[in-house]
Amino acid sequence: MKFFLDTAKVEEVESLLDTGMVDGVTTNPSLIAKSGGDMLETIGRIASLVEGPVSAECVSEDYDSMLREGELLSGLAKNVAVKVPLTVAGLRVCRTLSDRGVMVNVTLCFSVVQALLAGKAGASFISPFVGRLDDVGGDGMNLVEEILEVYDHYGMETEVLVASVRHPHHVAEAARMGADVVTIPPDILYKLYGHPLTDKGLEAFLSDWRKTGQSIGGKA
Ligand code: G3P
Repeated sequence: MKFFLDTAKVEEVESLLDTGMVDGVTTNPSLIAKSGGDMLETIGRIASLVEGPVSAECVSEDYDSMLREGELLSGLAKNVAVKVPLTVAGLRVCRTLSDRGVMVNVTLCFSVVQALLAGKAGASFISPFVGRLDDVGGDGMNLVEEILEVYDHYGMETEVLVASVRHPHHVAEAARMGADVVTIPPDILYKLYGHPLTDKGLEAFLSDWRKTGQSIGGKA
């Protein structure tokens, strides 16, 4: 399962690269605004740091303008995936760009039929927003399960990218279901490492070790 980092902050990407857990990055207009950086410069820098796909979202709503933005964004680097909203124009842009070999991430997906349309439009990724569905009393992970089932029926190659992740349980469920990718905010990625019994066990091991007076390979 691939882990993408859900952030537009270059320093967050840099600080997590060494973990070996970052297979790609996703951004959106809100994350760009939060980062305070210039969009094209930010995407260019992130795309040069990360080998995998870096999603950059179009902000126009009509086909021609959205396509122009998509061309500009995909021209920044080979690993840029153009993000388009799940609208009629968005899926038209998706078809045009994927026919040219450009990766497209279709975002703001909240139903299985929307995901089916994105698959038919040749999307590389479909992004169901699980947290936002949960927020309004829906079941985000159930949507992921439905999409995986439908894509499997028709052998669709669109990868299911679980987005709007709010806690480690979303990641665990996505992995159990066999979702292709999960995009994770940095604070939640750090939470995946944690377990109180790991901390407790480590503390006990190290305290016992100190009593031996030994060191491995000389003084630390
Ligand atoms: O990348 C988009 C998505 O992950 C947004 O998450 O928390 O704003 O619903 P959130």
